[in-house]
Formats: sequence, structure tokens, C-alpha cells
Amino acid sequence: MSATIIDGKVFATTVRGKVAAHVARLKEENGITPGLAVVLVGADPASEVYVRSKGKMTIEVGMKSVEHRLSAETSEADLLSLIDSLNRDATIHGILVQLPLPGHLNEDLVINAINPAKDVDGFHISNVGLLGTGQKSMVPCTPLGCLMMLRDHHGSLAGLNAVVVGRSNIVGKPMAQLLLRDSCTVTIAHSRTKDIEEVCRRADILVAAVGRPEMITGAWVKPGATVIDVGINRIEKTDGGTRLVGDVAFESASAVAGAITPVPGGVGPMTIACLLANTLTAACRANGLAEPEGLTA
Ligand code: GUN
Repeated sequence: MSATIIDGKVFATTVRGKVAAHVARLKEENGITPGLAVVLVGADPASEVYVRSKGKMTIEVGMKSVEHRLSAETSEADLLSLIDSLNRDATIHGILVQLPLPGHLNEDLVINAINPAKDVDGFHISNVGLLGTGQKSMVPCTPLGCLMMLRDHHGSLAGLNAVVVGRSNIVGKPMAQLLLRDSCTVTIAHSRTKDIEEVCRRADILVAAVGRPEMITGAWVKPGATVIDVGINRIEKTDGGTRLVGDVAFESASAVAGAITPVPGGVGPMTIACLLANTLTAACRANGLAEPEGLTA
């Protein structure tokens, strides 16, 4: 068997198109331009790439994009003061503080200083609690993107066995909450899970979010399962160059799975598309308007 490829690049283009169409209507009918502020502290090269890409795509869908680039030595007080001013700025509907932050800054403190209604990452403790109790919240972008692709592929997810490998606050835990909300039977597996291969082989939906290159092989996959690979790992090739691989060994897994997301071109492009969707959702909620259909959890 050779798996259907779930093309995240195509899917993300469709999501961004829907966001752009809704933004155009918001501008025309309500005079509202959704605004996203991204805060980058320091000059981590990978973060620089993400932030540039976020800014470019924000503008492409017709939103206002604001970038705040602060030195790596910025004090916590100065960063909190910037967040406070963005919280009070009515033209800004979404605030994202790029992680990781330099070591002297307390990430939890900084994230929890963002107005939860503007927390387009869904990392604020209030949003975590709201999601965990099935209430309306901002939902982390990567798990939201995975959920959209799974719903598109399966229709209803009810009753399916889902195994999420990885227990991070950013992906594993919110992914499990979202799958539970869609009535999956959910298991979170991690580095201390016994017989992890056997646990994974029970999954109708297998989400890999561990950050270990090609850890999950075809032997871990139930025939016909849907495999969502959240990993983005850069590894060295034998010729000295590098290439991107996921947490799933694509070749062997795709021989067993029913559907699979590739790396690159799977989950990755969906993350920024969902950030834009979340910013639009935040702008609609802030103005008491209907939320965009198909772009929320
Ligand atoms: N760094 C890597 N991924 C993310 C993300 O999704 N949000 C934020 N704020 N920082 C990140």
C-alpha cells in the first residue's frame, strides 16, 4: 500500500485564501483591518526566518503587520511594558512573542502578560484552561492546523483511536485536547511510555511531535492509519549538506499508512496559515462579529 499524501502546502494556501477573503469583507463592510504584532527578542537565526515569513504572509492576506525587534539584552520590565501597550492598542488584535526567549526572561510570565483575547498562539494559561474545559479559546496554531487536515481527510473523527507522541505544551497536550473534543479515544505517548511501538500500532490517527528525526518507522504504524508528522529536524547528509526530515521515517511509514503528511510541505505551512486564521478570529470576536467558518476549532 502507498499512502495518500496530505499536502499541507496546498491546504495552507486554501486557508490563507479564505482568511484573505474574510479580511476583505471585514474591511469593506465593517471598516476593520485585523492587526498582528510579532515581538522578537534577540537574533536567533531560525526565529528571524519565522518572523520574516509571518510578516510577509500577514500583509499578503490584507492584515496590518507590526514587528518589534528588541535586543537580546532587553529587560523583562521593558518587554512587559511593550506587551502592555500592545494590549491597549485597539488596532492590534493578535500578539505573538516569538519563543524561545533569551534565558534571563521568564517565558511564562511574559506569555501570561498578553491579553488572552489577543493571544493568537493560545499559550496563555487562561486559553489552556478554556481549551481543557471545552470552552471557546484561542487554540495553538500547529495543533489547529493538524486538526483541520484531519477533519478534511476523515470528516468525523468520532470514535477513532488517536495516539499523540510527545507531551509538549505547544503541540502534544493541546493536540490531545482537540482530538478529545472531536470524540477520539486519545492516548499521549512519550519517552517513558512502555511498549511505545505497540501503543502507536493501535492508532487510527498517529500524531508525531517529539523532535527526534525519523523515530517512528513503518513498524509503528497500523495499516491504513493517518500519520501526521509535526517534526522538523535538520540532519546531515553523507555528502556534508543538510536536509529536513520529520519525526516519522517517511518512506517506511508511507508504505503502511493510509495517509501521511510529508516533511517539508505538511504541517509546517499550516502553522502560519492558522496564525493568520487566529488573528482574524480574534478581530471578529473583539468586534462582536461572527467568527470565520471552518477556520476555528
Ligand atoms: N517558536 C517556535 N514555534 C513557535 C510558535 O508557534 N509560537 C511562538 N510564539 N514561538 C514559536
